[in-house]
Amino acid sequence: MTDPWQECMDLCVEVAHRAGKVIREALQEDIAVMEKSSPVDLVTKTDQAVEQLIISSIKAKYPSHSFIGEESVAAGEPSILTDNPTWIIDPVDGTTNFVHRFPFVSVSIGFTVNKEVEFGIVYSCVEDKMYTARRGKGAFCNGQPIKVSGQEDITKSLVLTEMGFKKDPVHFDTLMANIRSILSIPVHGIRSPGSAAVNMCLVACGSADAYYHIGIHCWDMAGGAAVVTEAGGVIMDISGGPFDVMSRRLIVASSKAIAERIAKEVTVFPCGRDDADS
Ligand code: IPD
Ligand code: CA
Repeated sequence: MTDPWQECMDLCVEVAHRAGKVIREALQEDIAVMEKSSPVDLVTKTDQAVEQLIISSIKAKYPSHSFIGEESVAAGEPSILTDNPTWIIDPVDGTTNFVHRFPFVSVSIGFTVNKEVEFGIVYSCVEDKMYTARRGKGAFCNGQPIKVSGQEDITKSLVLTEMGFKKDPVHFDTLMANIRSILSIPVHGIRSPGSAAVNMCLVACGSADAYYHIGIHCWDMAGGAAVVTEAGGVIMDISGGPFDVMSRRLIVASSKAIAERIAKEVTVFPCGRDDADS
């Protein structure tokens, strides 16, 4: 039987390669930085131009599909997931890295139908690593199959998380206390590469054993969710329940044992939902 979404996935990979080229070229120029919701929430003309490039290229072929893109939502578009085929797009995941030329910058695209992720791609464009995953067909990096480490012992694990400044002091203290709890298990270490989508792919290819985060968005998670799941990883809500792409929180891990242990250690703070005001 032919795969109804394979053509969409092929287009996705082709557009992501083009988007990555635009990002790499922009890294050679001066980068003008603008602020969004706070002085540490950054955006550049490249984020906006790349999102336009991706959405216009896909819309030209699939005009009836829906889109949730980080910069479109920032400009007032709704962020609501329906059963319609939907492209969830982060044109530049790791904008702070991009601004500093720290080399983990990715294009992340997840594609959902009936609210289920059908395929996802993450293009870590400075490293030139194209991660792809189609539901039920495995995960790949530049065409080579990848899989999680399979590590079950958290004391032998490398854990990823991110530590953006939270204006609310209670949230900030909880975020820091969570890092302390995980380090005290102990684990081999904690790292913060700065792109949620890349973090998920690092777990998918066995370079790290877990990633957890409270407060990211559907466009940071959708592409990587497909990659890590198809690589044999576990994905769950931060409290241990089922993963919800609009929930703004997740744990991914090489094994259920590690994911569940992180869920037990982490104190959750409220972060709202991506579809809350839609
Ligand atoms: C950010 C990155 C970062 C995470 C932030 C995200 P952006 O995405 O994924 O790792 O800590 O919460 O907002 O803003 O660079 O697309
Ligand atoms: Ca972004």
